[in-house]
Amino acid sequence: MADHTLGIIGAGNMAEAIVRGALRGGVLEGGQVLAAEPRAERREQLAGALGIATTDDNAAAGRCARVLLAVKPQVMDEALASIAGAVGDDATVISIAAGVSTARIDAALAGRGRIVRVMPNTPMLVGAGVCAMAPGARASDEDLAYVRALLGTGGTVVDVEEGMMDAVTAVSGSGPAYFFYFVEAMVAAGVAEGLPEGTASMLAGATCVGAGKLLIESGEAPATLRARVTSPGGTTQRAVESLDADGVAEALHRAVRAAAERSRQLGAS
Ligand SMILES: NC(=O)c1ccc[n+]([C@@H]2O[C@H](COP(=O)([O-])OP(=O)(O)OC[C@H]3O[C@@H](n4cnc5c(N)ncnc54)[C@H](OP(=O)(O)O)[C@@H]3O)[C@@H](O)[C@H]2O)c1
Repeated sequence: MADHTLGIIGAGNMAEAIVRGALRGGVLEGGQVLAAEPRAERREQLAGALGIATTDDNAAAGRCARVLLAVKPQVMDEALASIAGAVGDDATVISIAAGVSTARIDAALAGRGRIVRVMPNTPMLVGAGVCAMAPGARASDEDLAYVRALLGTGGTVVDVEEGMMDAVTAVSGSGPAYFFYFVEAMVAAGVAEGLPEGTASMLAGATCVGAGKLLIESGEAPATLRARVTSPGGTTQRAVESLDADGVAEALHRAVRAAAERSRQLGAS
């Protein structure tokens, strides 16, 4: 096991996205990764697809110099108990679990390892994710540099304080679902206005993706870009007035607040 430098606890969707990005970006080689995963079928699939080593023994992965905790929050206590005796004092322990604090992980590991908490999102699957990263109490600059390199291949990494993680979860962790919700509604509206569904899907999806690219690449504020497509008295102005009249901005605000509250509840349970 000595040459496995990254151990993974829970090789599900997000772990796969992270490893795929790191392999693609040349930050990792398949032979450096040991992924612990309960399902034999999943282990076989990952070993075949990514060329990584797999095991059903969490402790074996927990002994690696870097450990990625990628189980669901509901099974985190069980997963931490299974590696508590294995994690080295000098290990970098990276957690992507929503709502699980570094203090809770630190307590479960009895102070072994240095913890970094990360909130990624699913566009990491296509190298266009955004991750927020918060250091635990003892995390070093080297730990943060490692995590930045590992996750940077899957998208942008933003530094935050841990106290902001519930808000991060509500904005960027859950955010892709808000976007899909919006696109679904735009497609339905386009169909209602007479477009074939395939045409409406292509127009709505490509418009949203293109607007996002314009936002990031131009570096301009969304309000500025919106003003630029809103001619006085034109079609866009009429649409935005309708959105305002229906309280869409307030509805989004309430949705983000509800997600942040749920993240706080999950963290407390
Ligand atoms: N999906 C997102 O959008 C997103 C965004 C940000 C953060 N996250 C966080 O990422 C984490 C993983 O999410 P995911 O969507 O990748 O979940 P997932 O696909 O369900 O992956 C979790 C994996 O852990 C395995 N597992 C369950 N119990 C285990 C144990 N005791 N020891 C080792 N492995 C165990 C599961 O196996 P079984 O399938 O056999 O149970 C599964 O393969 C979560 O904590 C979530 O909060 C997710």
